Amino acid sequence: MPKIIQRPRGTQDILPIDQKYWRAIQASVEKVLTHFNFGRIETPMFESEDTFLRPIGQYSDIVEKEMYEVKRLSDSKDPDEGNQRLVLRPEMTTAVARSFIENGLLSWPQPVKLWYFGPAFRYDRPQKGRYRQFFQYGFEIFGDASATADALVILAVWQILSELKLDHLAILEINTIGDKNCRPKIRKTLGDYFKNYTKELCADCQRRLSTNPLRILDCKTVGCQPIIDQAPTVLDLVCELCKNHFRLVLEHLDDLDIGYDLNPRLVRGLDYYTRTTFEIRAKDDERRQSSLGGGGRYDELVVMMGGQSTPGIGFAGGVERLIELMIDRGLKVADRTEPKICVVQFGQLARRKSLVLVAKLANLGYSTVAAFDKDSLNAQLKYANRMGVAYSLIIGQKEALENEVIVRNMSDGSQETVSVKKLDEVLKRKVKQ
Ligand code: HAM
Repeated sequence: MPKIIQRPRGTQDILPIDQKYWRAIQASVEKVLTHFNFGRIETPMFESEDTFLRPIGQYSDIVEKEMYEVKRLSDSKDPDEGNQRLVLRPEMTTAVARSFIENGLLSWPQPVKLWYFGPAFRYDRPQKGRYRQFFQYGFEIFGDASATADALVILAVWQILSELKLDHLAILEINTIGDKNCRPKIRKTLGDYFKNYTKELCADCQRRLSTNPLRILDCKTVGCQPIIDQAPTVLDLVCELCKNHFRLVLEHLDDLDIGYDLNPRLVRGLDYYTRTTFEIRAKDDERRQSSLGGGGRYDELVVMMGGQSTPGIGFAGGVERLIELMIDRGLKVADRTEPKICVVQFGQLARRKSLVLVAKLANLGYSTVAAFDKDSLNAQLKYANRMGVAYSLIIGQKEALENEVIVRNMSDGSQETVSVKKLDEVLKRKVKQ
């Protein structure tokens, strides 16, 4: 017996029974973002590693530990890519920025607003809500430096959550981490502070002392917490312009009645952020184990990637995490509503006619089920019952010759013979009443 092949760790099969959640999320994302005039963008699932390395950060967890390389199985080099390594995208913001530059979207009327929905890949330790292939929905605004754009992004997130009836379960945490002007001072102040505790800090934080002391604020290690609690607050260190920007964002949120928690430790794990950073988490996730989504401003990203200076702000959320929240809270999601009809046939001619009937039913807006390789009437009716259909259409030799079908009500067994021409009318009366 050949060995049964399993899917890779940290990946999921999304079966038909789960699709209703995916459909609901994608429909809400599309609806809300279309209202705000975002256009959909799809970028490749793999890109050159340069797309991600510098913008996300050489010393970030994603770049250091989590990226997957894409290689041809054959040993020979890919002449199209030269020495360039290809990687699976660990996120989309940098890929969208690459596309913004490459496709000259700066020549479009600014701001340019783009949304996406697709898989991303990170080598993470798999557990609930944490996968190696996971889906993100997200959106980016290029070319708008205003605090209003920051608040608009948060408003869109909130509207998506509200469409999904999840807004009351979510908390917004927000912070500012300064810009290219005040960041060096912030790093130095924090670096100087943490250096006093080098020995007490965990190994990761000791490394962060020289790479990016800001990231120490994000550390979850128990031993580091008392030191972080006493650290200078970033909000007190940012320059007046950044402070003012942040104040305006918060004023907008007040106007919109969107509540928030100020979290001075929210620095996020990607290097490209400037000024506003925010995360959405479930209210009961007090240990801040798995955020439902995160975002922020990235005014230096486009320049960092070789484009002309263009401000940006965006957000991405994890689809699986939303679904898990919906299921945990028992939220009902409607499935597709097309009525299902079973087509039952016996005899050679009837089988030929049955496929024509399936085509006709699809055109009339019904979803059909059929087990063409079953010959017995009983087996097919049993199948219809298992599939939960309300009506079956039966074609035997006689019906096939006379262009008729028997319409059978599966709950009481009553039957009526109708001509195929009148089928639409009869079904409308019976099925769609
Ligand atoms: P991120 O915080 O790395 O941000 O990821 C955003 C969201 O993706 C997370 O909050 C989480 O819901 C989901 N996520 C991340 N890793 C996993 C995983 N291993 N398994 C399941 N879900 C996961 C970004 O990716 C930024 N690009 C967001 C952004 C957009 N910033 C500006 N624009």
